[in-house]
Amino acid sequence: MAASDARRIGERRVRTRDRREADRRSGVDRRDETAWKPIAIDPSDSSSDEAALVAAAVEARDFARAPFSRFKVGAALETAAGEVITGCNVENATYGLTMCAERVALYKALSARKEVRFTRIAVVADTPEPTPPCGSCRQLLWEYCGDIEVVLATPTQVTRRLMLSALLPLPFDVRLL
Ligand code: THU
Repeated sequence: MAASDARRIGERRVRTRDRREADRRSGVDRRDETAWKPIAIDPSDSSSDEAALVAAAVEARDFARAPFSRFKVGAALETAAGEVITGCNVENATYGLTMCAERVALYKALSARKEVRFTRIAVVADTPEPTPPCGSCRQLLWEYCGDIEVVLATPTQVTRRLMLSALLPLPFDVRLL
């Protein structure tokens, strides 16, 4: 095979891989079979809008109503259309009715749009170790967002990037009903 043909085929393969990757992150239904398999994320791979998404979560964290735990969390969900919807945790005196920042952002987004696809969520807490979404949030994010990227950060730095499928392997969802 001529070198130019091999190059063309190689380039096509890369394009197909990129398209699959893009489909998986923002496709019509990212809860397909491939989404069951966690994929690795290059920890140094940050897009230019990541800083803006994290900044939105940092700002939202300021609104946290966390007088009981004093653990303030901010979240920012990114849609495929490039919108950013934020949330903060909201606690109450019964404790049990607390709502996490991630679900506040998710419910805000879902309740104001007929159709929406999500690509990424940033979660910010002021802890040395990354603060990942709790189990309930993982479930809700999975069902409504699919296999989105999860960016964990403190107010000053990103501490971890991973796909939701790595946080929720073998999920229960509508496919099993
Ligand atoms: N919390 C969140 O908002 N998101 C998380 O990812 C972890 C925990 C909140 C719930 C509660 O208000 C406080 O943090 C302590 O659990």
